[in-house]
Amino acid sequence: MSHTSSRHLLALSALIAGACASSAALAAPTQGETLFQQRCATCHTIAPGAAKMGPALKGIVGSKAAAVPGYAFSPALKASGLTWTTANLDKYLAKPTTVVPGTKMMVGVPDAAQRAAIISYLSTQAN
Ligand code: HEC
Repeated sequence: MSHTSSRHLLALSALIAGACASSAALAAPTQGETLFQQRCATCHTIAPGAAKMGPALKGIVGSKAAAVPGYAFSPALKASGLTWTTANLDKYLAKPTTVVPGTKMMVGVPDAAQRAAIISYLSTQAN
């Protein structure tokens, strides 16, 4: 009797281990998320209200530039009139100070494939 139940237990723990392994694979960060952590997270969070050096970027795709409440945007970005379409984000992230002269964001991402990955990650972080 006790022999049988310990075999069941073994089978059960094998099942649980299998389930954990596959959920870890699902939760693995995408390339865009990894790049965001490496290239943007020093200055930006996703979580709303959590401004660092730059504004929080939750729901940024499709929103108006310089519209996050409570963040002191540069006059240049406020006056830009931009909406963050994926195309505008791509241009801004390539060379922020060329697209918006006077912006407080100085660093860009020169690699187009990396920008695309980051922008697609940001599109998944909608409001
Ligand atoms: C060294 C700090 C720094 C880094 C790194 C940085 N940013 Fe910024 N970012 C800023 C600052 C500061 C602003 C505010 C610009 C202004 O007011 O002109 C900003 C503004 C922005 C805006 C406009 C937000 C809005 O509400 O209009 C976007 C979009 C953005 N950053 C995306 C990114 C992404 C994506 C990355 C990573 C590839 C990144 N930033 C990396 C500092 C940074």
